[in-house]
Amino acid sequence: MTELRIFRDDKPAAPERVLTEGNAIADVLGKEGILFERWKADVDLAAGDDQAKVLSAYAKQIDKLKRANGYVTADVVRMVPDAPNRADMRKKFLNEHQHSEDEVRFFVEGTGSFYLHLGKRVYQVICERDDLLSVPDGTRHWFDMGPQPRFTAIRLFTNPEGWVANFTGETIAERFPTFGE
Ligand SMILES: [Fe+2]
Repeated sequence: MTELRIFRDDKPAAPERVLTEGNAIADVLGKEGILFERWKADVDLAAGDDQAKVLSAYAKQIDKLKRANGYVTADVVRMVPDAPNRADMRKKFLNEHQHSEDEVRFFVEGTGSFYLHLGKRVYQVICERDDLLSVPDGTRHWFDMGPQPRFTAIRLFTNPEGWVANFTGETIAERFPTFGE
């Protein structure tokens, strides 16, 4: 289930607020300038479907999103629980970082957890199938796919070259609950 947990950034032990209803999550995030929408991921993917298959299965939605929000390109990240590179992939974005490009993810399968550090709060957004989340450029955040990741997310870009992680050097992520364990 999609879930938003709001923490004080100095109190990682327990969230101040937990929301599980899509519209309420969209409202709260929208007030912080974060785009969150529930879309319809209406194609069941097969285990062996590669990037081209996923992109063509969701061509209609991708096209709509590109037109609505000005994204230029799309690609696919697909993780399975026994992927040999899963530990390295998980570690990659597990520390607080920023990008000079929006981080846009449309989850069409599985689940993963974003943590957005906004002012004195951390917004943990546990995304699942149907969720579209856009983390604006310059937003401090991290992402945990868990030790046995399972998700397929379509990534949308206005400028893929800008999507490089600039780590803040903060260790805040280590103090917050991890995902999926
Ligand atoms: Fe990121």
